[in-house]
Amino acid sequence: MAAVPQAARARASQLREEIDRHNYLYFVLDAPEVTDAEYDSLMRELLRLEEEHPSLRTKDSPTQRVGGAGPTPFRKVRHVMPMRSLQNAVSEVEVEQFRTRVRLALGEDPDLVAELKMDGLAVSLTFVSGRLTQGATRGDGVTGEEITANVQVVEGIPATLPDGPGRGLPPRCEVRGEVYMPKEVLAGLNRERESQGLELYANCRNAAAGSLRQLDSEITRSRSLSAFFYACDPAPSGISTQSQLLDWLELQGLPVNPNRRRFAAGEGVPEYLGSWQARRRDLPYEIDGVVLKVDSLAGQEELGADSRAPRWAVAYKFPPEERESRVVAIEVSIGRTGVVTPVAVLDPVEVAGSTVSHVTLHNEDQVRRKDVRVGDVVVVRKAGDVIPEVVRVVLSRRPDGSEPFQMPKECPACGSELVREVGEAATRCLNPLCPAQRLATLLHFVSRDALDIDRLGPAVVQQLLDRQMVRTPADLFRLEAGQLEELPGLARRSARQLTDAIRARRHPALGRLLYALGIPHVGRRTAELLAEHFGTMERLRAAGPDELAAVSGVGPVLAEAVVHHLASPGTGALLEQLREVGVEPKEAERSEGPWRGRTVVITGSLPGLSRAEAEAAVRRLGGVAGSSVSRKTTAVVAGESAGSKLATAQRLGVPVVDPEGFSWWLDHPDSDPPPAPA
Ligand code: IVH
Repeated sequence: MAAVPQAARARASQLREEIDRHNYLYFVLDAPEVTDAEYDSLMRELLRLEEEHPSLRTKDSPTQRVGGAGPTPFRKVRHVMPMRSLQNAVSEVEVEQFRTRVRLALGEDPDLVAELKMDGLAVSLTFVSGRLTQGATRGDGVTGEEITANVQVVEGIPATLPDGPGRGLPPRCEVRGEVYMPKEVLAGLNRERESQGLELYANCRNAAAGSLRQLDSEITRSRSLSAFFYACDPAPSGISTQSQLLDWLELQGLPVNPNRRRFAAGEGVPEYLGSWQARRRDLPYEIDGVVLKVDSLAGQEELGADSRAPRWAVAYKFPPEERESRVVAIEVSIGRTGVVTPVAVLDPVEVAGSTVSHVTLHNEDQVRRKDVRVGDVVVVRKAGDVIPEVVRVVLSRRPDGSEPFQMPKECPACGSELVREVGEAATRCLNPLCPAQRLATLLHFVSRDALDIDRLGPAVVQQLLDRQMVRTPADLFRLEAGQLEELPGLARRSARQLTDAIRARRHPALGRLLYALGIPHVGRRTAELLAEHFGTMERLRAAGPDELAAVSGVGPVLAEAVVHHLASPGTGALLEQLREVGVEPKEAERSEGPWRGRTVVITGSLPGLSRAEAEAAVRRLGGVAGSSVSRKTTAVVAGESAGSKLATAQRLGVPVVDPEGFSWWLDHPDSDPPPAPA
């Protein structure tokens, strides 16, 4: 056997190490440092070296495994069938090569089915006799993490499948698919996180992974995740093709991506690939390619798999939409909570359908890590097709004499010293009177999801602040048209229209006002949930953390934050001022139904009813399905092996209902909770 050249041996070992590190960053930390394309090119180089020198293909080579499992707080579960990865094609030629390989192996051109390649997190759902018994992540493909409580709060994942045993549904099966975060949800979540100085999610995939791997499923619920499914192991009886399988999954009530297509033997796919590449931006979720699968399940079986991926499928990966531009300046912007965000100002460049001129660099560490400098040529793309980001600096084009970025020592708006606490990523301006913070606070207050006063743009608000015509949001409601006419560029008519627009918002929906207050962690959706539950600001302010945490979608951390914020003197003063100028929120429309105002906590397992179904039943009647027990809880439904919540209910004297009583109560919703049998 020819000796392997030293250089190849060294390079292979270096590649193995590097890929392992990227696997760890991607699968365990959800914090990849390289793009998929960069990762793939490392993998390809290693595959090529191993192809040339098979003795380099060690058992522990990343080419022989899928992903990298590491230490996690979740229980490990073994998949009944390994969850494999996919072989990639980066060009139409490589797709044709895949077809040729399949044709040679099967002796005929196969029918194919094309599916969109969702960029989310692979999950496996176990159904036993049609009931969802377990949800798991893919992990390393062999062992994943148990996340049952979290998959139950993903939109569209049913607790039971209607097709019972004997009607095609295997007695036990694993249904596989992808959990994803819609682009709009990511954008909202990141806006929220940026305002709090929290690290942003780089893309929809990371956000989905981070949201699904939460110890508190209420946090997962608040993240509005969705899913699409594409596989079932073993296949249901009577199903012989992948296209039938997809239809069958849909009939089971599982979400299946409608954008799928079957291609007869020999029919060309390039047009389909090209059309999705162009249209991907129009989808509300992120896709990173198209998966082509041999349609016949018998054909799939015959082709089999190697240790990493099946031979009957290929993922055509879209080239990332990246553009280059030059950094003309790095500015810092101050958010309403004083968080300082460095922003790269670029020569305007068109990326994925819009012009980008400002790209957030998030915080000091990120700028350092990427070493972005004024004058650099940078590669820009859109994370989740939404938020522009700097991928990397093109070092070969760095101008001479450039200097690393320095975070300013003083706030550019108020001159006070900027502070970065040990262990925090965010640098902050701690001056509550800082004009930049005031500007950001006011702009948040009038933003679309808050009081929605669109005539109050940044330029007008800045002038109002400069002339000391307003300091707090309440001052906006004291403005007179006559005063506004003084502002340059504001004619009498527009001054009148502006004051009218402000007046028109004196009775905002409670959810909007709550959101406008800028409470840490409270996004538009959480504000809505709180408003709906409590109905009035007074009731909300009187509630304790336990009562807040009993609201579906509100976890204990959030509950503490809200109570703390609402009790702070600053918020108290602002609410008082708002009242003085006549701002009174409308009472929130509370949910209708006989259980309106009732909070029911389900604990333990109920025969014939999953937790999600039981909670849905409570909500259908207008009640709130709580997650923790307090004195205000209407009743606790205790099933088999109920634990601490039952004990808490007994201690607090909250009525306890057994499963039988619960089903009686659902049939008699106007009654009080039935007494538990002695
Ligand atoms: S089939 C054994 N179909 O892509 C076949 N995968 O890069 C396994 N993915 O692990 C996968 N959309 O997480 C398949 N329509 C689709 C997919 C899809 C997204 C993910 C999946 C897989 C990864 C491989």
